[in-house]
Formats: sequence, structure tokens, C-alpha cells
Amino acid sequence: MRLSLCSTALLVAQLHLGAPIAALADPQSNYLLHCGGCHLENGEGTLPEVPDLRHDLDWLAQTPEGRSYLTRVPGASQVPLSDEKLADIYNWMFEVFYPPGSNIPPFSGEEISRTRGQPLYDPLRARQALLKGQAKSP
Ligand code: HEC
Repeated sequence: MRLSLCSTALLVAQLHLGAPIAALADPQSNYLLHCGGCHLENGEGTLPEVPDLRHDLDWLAQTPEGRSYLTRVPGASQVPLSDEKLADIYNWMFEVFYPPGSNIPPFSGEEISRTRGQPLYDPLRARQALLKGQAKSP
């Protein structure tokens, strides 16, 4: 059962992406498989429910609180991938969804592992608190 579900997922992914199965481990494929269903292929999401990943990760990723938040949003923290692979997805998004020179500090698997396990029960409230913090900073 497990095997057949897995094979089906691979087949579906292959059909959708037109990518060879060997390439499925790369961050782009992982993004498409695990995040793109909600956040869409280009990251734009479906507002207001699913946020656009092309706008705010640049400032969110500049503070320890914002970086912790990024590792703890449910879609990211619960993805069935290793900390390293989740870090790779974020670093890929920083590169592809943001203009060159955006200077977004990359994640390491080690950094992700420190906060990922602490559930974020109210992501929207956590985000509002981060926004307020940003408004107060010089
Ligand atoms: C089932 C749909 C779904 C999937 C799959 C999903 N997300 Fe999300 N994501 C959401 C929703 C909805 C929110 C808004 C916060 C909340 O309610 O969890 C969100 C919020 C976020 C945010 C916060 C953005 C901001 O501007 O505050 C980030 C970052 C994020 N997701 C990354 C990811 C990553 C990375 C993946 C894949 C590993 C992923 N998400 C998979 C639905 C999803």
C-alpha cells in the first residue's frame, strides 16, 4: 500500500512536472510536490488564505524571530522531509522568488532543526506580532 501510494505520487509528479524521477529530490521538485499545491508553482499563493511567498520572506528571514517563524509555519514544519531538505527549499525560494542581491541569509538544516519542532498554534497571530516588530524597528 505504502509502495503503491509512493509510486503513484512519483508518477503524478512526473506527469505534472515532465521531470525525470531522478530529479525529484531537488529543491524545486520538493517545493512543487510539498508546497506548490497551496502556494502555487510561482509562490503567489491564493490570497487571502494562502500567503504569497514572493514578498515577505526577505524581511522575515532577517531576524531570529522571523526565521524561527519560517521554520514553524505548519506547511513547512510538518513537511515529511529532512531539516536539510527544508532548508534547501527555503534557499531555493530565496534565490528564485526574490530579485538578485536581495541578501537573504540562507538556512542550514541545523538552524531549521533548532525551532522546527516547536508547534506554532496560531501562525496568523505570530505573523502579526512580527509585523508590529518590524514597524517599530528603525
Ligand atoms: C495545505 C496547504 C499548504 C501547504 C502544502 C503548504 N503551505 Fe505554507 N501556508 C499555508 C497557509 C494556509 C499559510 C498561512 C498560515 C497558516 O494558516 O498556516 C501558510 C503560510 C506559510 C508561510 C508564511 C508566509 C508569510 O508571509 O507569513 C510560509 C513561509 C510557508 N507557508 C511556507 C511553506 C513551505 C516551505 C511549504 C512546503 C514545504 C508550505 N508552506 C506548504 C498553506 C500551505
